[in-house]
Amino acid sequence: MNKIIFMIVLLTSISSFSAEEEVTYTHLKKHVFKVCYFCHAGRYPHIDRYSDIIKVVTPGDLKNSKLYQYVKSGRMPKSPARLSPEDVELIGKWIMAGAKNN
Ligand code: HEC
Repeated sequence: MNKIIFMIVLLTSISSFSAEEEVTYTHLKKHVFKVCYFCHAGRYPHIDRYSDIIKVVTPGDLKNSKLYQYVKSGRMPKSPARLSPEDVELIGKWIMAGAKNN
């Protein structure tokens, strides 16, 4: 019986850990936005500049975040490279968590 309770406690703590995992802007710049630099390193919005990116994002609001809408619809990246659905969701998670400069 104790073993079962232990397993339940263990499983709950594991799942809440992954749900709490925070997506940072640093992570996005390093792993997700790399397909954007070809164009957006030299033109607006400079993807690696927080002051630019915050102009195409409304923290906590995906509908009013051009960044999210463009990658979700596939309008961006404007190249044969595609973002995976997981990458699009990471961007969404970051926006919903307040789009912090972290
Ligand atoms: C091959 C070049 C190219 C690539 C790669 C590219 N973009 Fe763009 N992007 C453009 C061009 C050109 C525009 C302006 C025309 C338009 O809005 O379609 C633009 C516009 C945008 C805008 C709208 C800016 C505004 O205020 O109107 C956003 C947001 C954006 N890109 C995000 C991204 C993201 C995120 C990526 C990577 C996942 C990306 N782009 C990859 C060329 C590119």
